[in-house]
Amino acid sequence: AHELRNSLGVLTNAVAYLELAIPMDDQTIKKNFNHMKENVARANKVISDLLDFARDTRAAKSVFSISAVMDGALKDQKIPGGIKVEKRCPEGSYPVFADRDQVYHIIFNLLKNAVEAMTAPDGKSEEGKLILNCRRDNEGKVILSISDTGIGIPPEDKEKIFEPLFTGKSSGIGLGLSISQRYAELNGGSLKVDSEAGVGSTFILTLPGGDNTGERTQIHTGESTQIHTD
Ligand SMILES: Nc1ncnc2c1ncn2[C@@H]1O[C@H](COP(=O)(O)OP(=O)(O)OP(=O)(O)O)[C@@H](O)[C@H]1O
Ligand SMILES: [Mg+2]
Repeated sequence: AHELRNSLGVLTNAVAYLELAIPMDDQTIKKNFNHMKENVARANKVISDLLDFARDTRAAKSVFSISAVMDGALKDQKIPGGIKVEKRCPEGSYPVFADRDQVYHIIFNLLKNAVEAMTAPDGKSEEGKLILNCRRDNEGKVILSISDTGIGIPPEDKEKIFEPLFTGKSSGIGLGLSISQRYAELNGGSLKVDSEAGVGSTFILTLPGGDNTGERTQIHTGESTQIHTD
């Protein structure tokens, strides 16, 4: 896998060099060049997702605000203007105890899927509503739900969407949800879905709360967890 990554790195640099070196005034050259650029980027994404999936078996946990991570993921995902975002998670109120990078990755994947589910079939416009909600259950777990008004998921696909390489998209890879569910479980949480075809979907991420020290000693799902609160 590392050789693959190195070859792709060489290719990425070569493409970047050519973009500067070749005059792009010929439409055929430009079209082919863009094609090449998109596919190199896509190959990079597949490799890095596959490596994540194969390699990440531990969680480096700390206490942080889920709300802040959501803001970061929302910003990086660049939600298109046609999608109204409603975030119902007061800043600072929802500390979780988990691997921050992994949680970011989960939320980023869920937002990406939600946007894709609300994108018109021609890929040209996006419209709908995205609701991010935080709450806590009576065991102190933090429950984050991300709802969209997209195409929804047919009942027969609800189990399959978490399997690696299952995709319903023409250009999908099918790793986003399997990695996300793996991360949720590594952190002592879960990732579930509730959806109705044609209406929308809600993905529900549960994580251990970060302000209940009594809970922390019980959570040892990630191998690298070394927190003791005596
Ligand atoms: N919010 C959603 N609304 C409707 N369908 C969804 C939603 N999220 C996931 N799906 C379905 O589940 C499939 C698997 O999702 P997953 O994120 O694992 O892969 P992907 O989005 O196809 O590819 P990628 O690896 O780029 O994420 C999707 O292809 C889609 O069919
Ligand atoms: Mg995805």
